[in-house]
Amino acid sequence: MKVLITRQIPRVGIDLLRERLDVDLNASSTPLDPDELRRRAADCDALLCLLTDAIDRQLLADLPHLRIVSNHAVGVDNIDVEAATERGIAVTNTPGVLTEATADFTWALLLGLARRLVEGDRMMRAGDYPGWDPLMLLGTDLVGKTLGIIGPGRIGKAVARRARGWEMTIRYCGRSDHPDWERELGATRLALDDLLAEADVVSLHVPLNEETHHLLDGPRLRKMKPTALLINTARGPVIDEEALVAALRDRAIGGAALDVFEREPDTAPGLVDLDNVLLAPHIASATVDTRNRMAEIAARNIVRFLDGERPVSIVNPEVL
Ligand code: GLV
Repeated sequence: MKVLITRQIPRVGIDLLRERLDVDLNASSTPLDPDELRRRAADCDALLCLLTDAIDRQLLADLPHLRIVSNHAVGVDNIDVEAATERGIAVTNTPGVLTEATADFTWALLLGLARRLVEGDRMMRAGDYPGWDPLMLLGTDLVGKTLGIIGPGRIGKAVARRARGWEMTIRYCGRSDHPDWERELGATRLALDDLLAEADVVSLHVPLNEETHHLLDGPRLRKMKPTALLINTARGPVIDEEALVAALRDRAIGGAALDVFEREPDTAPGLVDLDNVLLAPHIASATVDTRNRMAEIAARNIVRFLDGERPVSIVNPEVL
């Protein structure tokens, strides 16, 4: 049986697949263009792909041998899961293993934004540090403030758990009550607009789908406090990025720290010119250990499925 790995991933995943399958590896560090992806996947039983590959309905229809699409990511918004399910194709992802790394990075962004760390670094490197100044680069305290988590899943909870160190009040917004959040974190569920109005920090942890696309649009962004900080380690299109640029420019919110963007690798016009944003190149899960575990699970999902066993993590179990 044959698998296409659409791009270099950590060795452990490639080796695991090579033990069992005929592997076609795109050895380059850039994504395959759609035509080459279609051509190389044409005789494959499995696809190990990345969030930079668009696995759409037409592509799935063009791959008659395909039985499993294993995403090297927890988010699966790059895959048409409904079309895959209709064709009986399994879709798998890598949840769990990147929770702590992503939560850590969310806090790195929050602390970096609140304390203007990158602006300070830039000043030092430019040789612009004029000497200690009591009014220079004043930031925002976080202790005792209110953290609003949108999307009370694994990563949101890991972010909220860390907030206990800052004695923060936790609010969350989701489709249902999470009694464990209440119990463990003293958190209260709020409607989205109420959370936006109350939180000093808003952090996004929802998957991207039709419901969450532009969840934070212009009017919603302007419901936030003018001092509030917005953190996005979820998916770029959850925020209307052009509306965010306008809100930041008007100082309608205090600042934003973003790891994801609407049209990666591009950013909305004007975003990079703002001083109240901190920007990162989609690296929230980028630690050596985490990426190794992601590669291993992505590969193991394929091997287990083709062996007739249940994958470690399946998005559409109805195909099993
Ligand atoms: C990264 O963005 C992921 O979904 O794993």
